[in-house]
Amino acid sequence: MMSYTAAESEAEPQSSYRRGAGLLSQSRLASGIRAVVSVPYMLGCAAALLVPGMLMLPLFLFKKRGATNRSNEEGGSLSAIKTLNARAVVAQVGFGPDHLAPKLMAHLSLTGPGLLGWLYTQAYSRSLVWGFQLTRRLWVEQVMRPFLGDTIKFAEFTYLQLRTCWLDDVVTRFVRDLQGGRGQLVILGAGYDTRCMRLDLPSAIDRFEVDAAGTQAQKRAQVAKAGLHDSGVRYVTCDFATQDWLAQLTQAGFDPKVPACFVWEGVCMYLPREVVEDTLTKIRSLASGSVIGFDCMEEAWVRSPTMQKLTQRAGESWYFGLKAGTESAFVESLGLRCLDNLRRDVLLQRYMPKGLAACIDFGAFILAGV
Ligand SMILES: C[S@@+](CC[C@H](N)C(=O)[O-])C[C@H]1O[C@@H](n2cnc3c(N)ncnc32)[C@H](O)[C@@H]1O
Repeated sequence: MMSYTAAESEAEPQSSYRRGAGLLSQSRLASGIRAVVSVPYMLGCAAALLVPGMLMLPLFLFKKRGATNRSNEEGGSLSAIKTLNARAVVAQVGFGPDHLAPKLMAHLSLTGPGLLGWLYTQAYSRSLVWGFQLTRRLWVEQVMRPFLGDTIKFAEFTYLQLRTCWLDDVVTRFVRDLQGGRGQLVILGAGYDTRCMRLDLPSAIDRFEVDAAGTQAQKRAQVAKAGLHDSGVRYVTCDFATQDWLAQLTQAGFDPKVPACFVWEGVCMYLPREVVEDTLTKIRSLASGSVIGFDCMEEAWVRSPTMQKLTQRAGESWYFGLKAGTESAFVESLGLRCLDNLRRDVLLQRYMPKGLAACIDFGAFILAGV
């Protein structure tokens, strides 16, 4: 399978990979001690979090939900906070590339606003970070293992790590291909994405973030609280389902004639198929050399009753997925070239040291270009 980003990862293996490999080099004695310590640690954390978790459950279950997409509401998307938290945890344990994530996560809660939720989030995240330092395991995945088998080990954390590292490479390759020329980076459905602040981008690259009003307001507040420098970022508010993001982006200074790199990380599953198609069709109308990188879930996973129930209850329903193997044809049917169509195994090899992680094969990682 061709890969637009392979050379990038081979030329300069992600520093997160090297750090992860370093975490694994340990003596047999140390591994033995860690294996023994990890069981009581894991049980202790589960027990300590279970009691407050059960007490908070009614608050969560019976909380009044507003619209079907909470991204537009005050406080914004909780799934965006969840993915930020995962990046913060893997950065803190030593192998994640998003070193700004812990700062952004500092005042946020996985259950929405409120002191109780924040305390719970802190306890949960600390237990993962300290647990990893002690045992070289993330205990949540270890707890799930007996039920779901080996594939679950590090499942969510690894999945998010893979897509973050890969999309970092997409941006790096795009910038390199410009050879000093002018370009644009657009993060669609940015959530708490930090690339505009985190990556070493030349000044010839204009930076934009697009997201729904609620999420973007919350993100900007956290950026300010954390004292991060976002003066080079142009923020564009847009509901993809009801508004024209390209028109809004252009109003904010985006130039359709200049090549652009779009990052669409963890977003298209939340959108109806026609919105996904419309988004890709709009990209096709842009300057030659423009690309869009995104992760696309498998249809069966999106449609599964469990995921439907879970995502609806969370106020962020999933709609879009594709049958495995049809992704390239899908983007090509919309007039784009498929530059990368990668699966978990390739990215595991690129970005995660053997033994540190495995994860479920949720879907494909697609890079489409004009
Ligand atoms: C799972 S989060 C991913 C956030 C970020 N890209 C990341 O990977 O951390 C999904 C994001 O899509 C945004 N989103 C979902 N539906 C949207 C819509 N209809 N309009 C605009 N943004 C939307 C949410 O606000 C949220 O930021």
